[in-house]
Amino acid sequence: MTAVTFAPPSPNLALNQLVDRRRAQGDSLVHLAFGEARLPVLPQLAEQLAIGASRSAYGPVAGADSVRAAVAGYFARRGLPTEADRIVVGPGSKPLLMAVQLAVPGDVLLPQPAWNTYAPQAAYAGKQVFGVPIPREYGGMPEPGALRETIRRARLTGGDPRLLVLTLPDNPTGTLAPPAAVHEICAIAQAEDLLVVSDEIYRDIVHDPQATPFLSPADVAPERTVVTTGLSKTLGIGGWRIGAARFPAGEAGELLRDSVVAAASELWSTLAGPMQQVAEYAFAEPPEIVARKRASARLHGAVARAVHRIAVGAGAVCRPPTGGFYVYPDFEPLRGRLAAHGITDSASLAASLLEDSGIVVLGGHLLGDRPHALRFKAATSLLYGDERQQQEALLADDPAGLPHIAAALSIIAEGFARLTRPPGRPSRRTPPDATPKESR
Ligand SMILES: Cc1ncc(COP(=O)(O)O)c(C=O)c1O
Repeated sequence: MTAVTFAPPSPNLALNQLVDRRRAQGDSLVHLAFGEARLPVLPQLAEQLAIGASRSAYGPVAGADSVRAAVAGYFARRGLPTEADRIVVGPGSKPLLMAVQLAVPGDVLLPQPAWNTYAPQAAYAGKQVFGVPIPREYGGMPEPGALRETIRRARLTGGDPRLLVLTLPDNPTGTLAPPAAVHEICAIAQAEDLLVVSDEIYRDIVHDPQATPFLSPADVAPERTVVTTGLSKTLGIGGWRIGAARFPAGEAGELLRDSVVAAASELWSTLAGPMQQVAEYAFAEPPEIVARKRASARLHGAVARAVHRIAVGAGAVCRPPTGGFYVYPDFEPLRGRLAAHGITDSASLAASLLEDSGIVVLGGHLLGDRPHALRFKAATSLLYGDERQQQEALLADDPAGLPHIAAALSIIAEGFARLTRPPGRPSRRTPPDATPKESR
């Protein structure tokens, strides 16, 4: 047989499978390595899915006109007037992002760290990746000076950066870049003639929209910004696979949209009919959808802030989370004490949390961060418990105080503290049976 090029599966999906295997063997783990919203399906969404069951024809590649109009309306309500033909829907935003990478020539600039899929997608598209460090205050966007310098050096060494991917709010840091930063980065994109991909899949779960204003690069540099979004995170239906992309107006935007539609026609044909029914309903944002997004943003914020407090209390530095359901602590201030436990980089840090405390996190090296750094991503949305507990958490005034969430938080606190305990003190965690069942 001809040799195939092997690429490992996405690290978050791989860790998820490891967790399933270890749990099947009876191990009790606190799983913080998978970015899933974990909330009960809103009954109205399930109703729409059932209604959509009869939509069995293929239909247009970009999506039915009515779905595209609903997504256009979603953007218009956010101050971005949009004609329906500038929208393409697909089975999640992930394949849409891949199609954009295939359609745009040249290389890719990514914030460092960034969501773990952008770089492998660039490799599949035959592109070089140039990582650019993020500022101390927020992620999802490169530090402006470092971006200019990276572009300059990339071009000197034969690179051809043409695409800049931004994440607002960000996975993995759980933070939102402020409007001033969006202006600054868009000015660089304009000066350097970059296409901006603004991944806004977490936009509707900014924890406190009053305190954290959202500005899209599409507001500032509309002619060069593609926005991607979806329902996986805001409505917790990642397995249903519903995503959308909004392309710039004008000739260049149309060309890009057509290239993406051409790729879609060869890769996935169209978004499944029943999902188009769901998408049309959800992107129109009836009151129950608005209320669910608001309640989930509150819940995500409360639990992410609780994990942030624990990380900071343990001695890490960590950007306060403002959107989505992630925190990204940095244990650099504790490097000396961690070294005494053999922890010298993000891989050994993640391995120690797993082996000694049963806490599963995604090491920063898997997100394009410097491997030597002592950072990891923790997805806090997996702490909400089973379906009944998730519902309870959505309604609770103090979700972090609910017994099942508080129990998981205390395991995390103990695990983080164990990392820096002087050697010689007991370091193994309590036997699996003693760990509260709810933390699963
Ligand atoms: C930043 C970011 N973008 C895009 C996606 C992909 O989501 P989907 O393909 O479900 O729309 C994810 C999922 O983890 C994500 O975190």
